Amino acid sequence: MKSTAVLLAAGQGTRMKSNLPKVLHPVAGKPMIGHALRAARQATTETPIVVVGHGAEEVTRYLGGAAQTVVQNPPLGTGHAVMQAEALLKGKADLVVVCYADMPLLRGETLQRLVETQQKNRGALSLLTVMAENPRGFGRVIRGADGALQAIVEEYVATPEQLRVKELNVGGYCFDGVWLWDALRRIPQNPQKGEYYLTDIVEIAVRDGLAVQATLMDDLEETIGVNTRVHLSEVETALRRRINQAHMLDGVTLIDPAATYIEADVTIGRDTVIYPNTFLRGATEIGAGNQIGPNTIIRDSKIGDRCKILASDLEGATLENDVEVGPFARLRKGAHLGDHVHMGNFGEVKDSRLRAGVKMGHFSYIGNAQIGANTNIGAGTITCNFDGERKHPTEIGEDVFIGSDTMLVAPLKLGDGARTGAGAVVTKDVAEDTLAVGMPARAIRKLERRKKKS
Ligand code: UD1
Ligand code: CA
Repeated sequence: MKSTAVLLAAGQGTRMKSNLPKVLHPVAGKPMIGHALRAARQATTETPIVVVGHGAEEVTRYLGGAAQTVVQNPPLGTGHAVMQAEALLKGKADLVVVCYADMPLLRGETLQRLVETQQKNRGALSLLTVMAENPRGFGRVIRGADGALQAIVEEYVATPEQLRVKELNVGGYCFDGVWLWDALRRIPQNPQKGEYYLTDIVEIAVRDGLAVQATLMDDLEETIGVNTRVHLSEVETALRRRINQAHMLDGVTLIDPAATYIEADVTIGRDTVIYPNTFLRGATEIGAGNQIGPNTIIRDSKIGDRCKILASDLEGATLENDVEVGPFARLRKGAHLGDHVHMGNFGEVKDSRLRAGVKMGHFSYIGNAQIGANTNIGAGTITCNFDGERKHPTEIGEDVFIGSDTMLVAPLKLGDGARTGAGAVVTKDVAEDTLAVGMPARAIRKLERRKKKS
């Protein structure tokens, strides 16, 4: 059975008061539409279709090849939005799953249950509902005396009696892919707002004598739709809790889950301990037995096993095993630290590989460099890699000892076992096992002793 998801993402999201299209607002580091897409893929067999409108270009760019898009312009309501997918889908899908792209907590498993309900239903459609004390502006699910679903009534047109109904329309539907397209055309234009409401399709099914089934959800949190930034913060907190719980159940210790910020795609090995105020972002992969934080930000980086990272900022970096970083280290794109490397206080590494056992304790900048195993980088060493126009490489061999405050003026090579004296300004290659010194300070004149100001 072919099933395709249609995600509605064309609305303006006026209540967000934002220049960014609503569905691109990130939750746990991933745009809302990304979460919706993941859930939809889990429950359907074909590539999803996203209905875009407001900010169509930006949304389409984000989606890349992950979905097909159709444009709805102007946005005339959720029913009208689904109609835009007809040309792509009519006669091509047995089941059409429709959901709103502003529900980032909705699980793929829930949509799977919805699809299963509709597979057994043989009627026109099935939809997700939930029982809640606080209706949050959701449409009310109206049932007849026999319990059969009759209609969905939007809050602002509901009678006082309908307003008291606790069963709500969550915003997930699974349609019979043959019946849907003609039924959409029969949705009346709403007299107040001039829109075509998808929710009115329930009454059309009932009039056609076709059953409408509900999949009742029990997790209220999953149903939160984001209309304002208050809702956005609610889903952020809820998703963070969900992500953190999953890691803890997988064997990761979080000292304070409420102060640990792990984005949706991050992976972490067991017995890693994460201290508070740590942010793990993007496509970060972390191995086992590490100690990370407090006060650490890691983005798009790969960390091996048994590393210690304290109060540092890593982006696009790779750490092998047993590496120690920080406090106050900054690793930028292309920083690669081998086994047992120690990179200490106030160091910066960019586009460089430090082989196993390199020690770089204090205040150094290493850029565009290759450093051999067990080399010691003295305090304050700097690779002068930029001449104002171009970057140049520095190659340092194994077991090299770089004296404190050495300036390595690139392009430059230092052979294995070389040494530099403190304060050396090295402008020419140094052969292996050779000592280079230079720039000693000279006494140039006698000074008058300064008097202390009183
Ligand atoms: C909708 C439902 C309501 C349900 C609630 C659950 C309708 C009429 N109402 O209300 O029953 O309880 O969701 O969250 O469907 N969109 C388009 N094109 C449009 C209008 C909207 O693509 O012309 C998209 C929006 O981008 C959004 C989604 O559809 O992602 C839902 O629209 P929204 O305006 O948020 O609907 P609600 O008022 O929340
Ligand atoms: Ca909504």
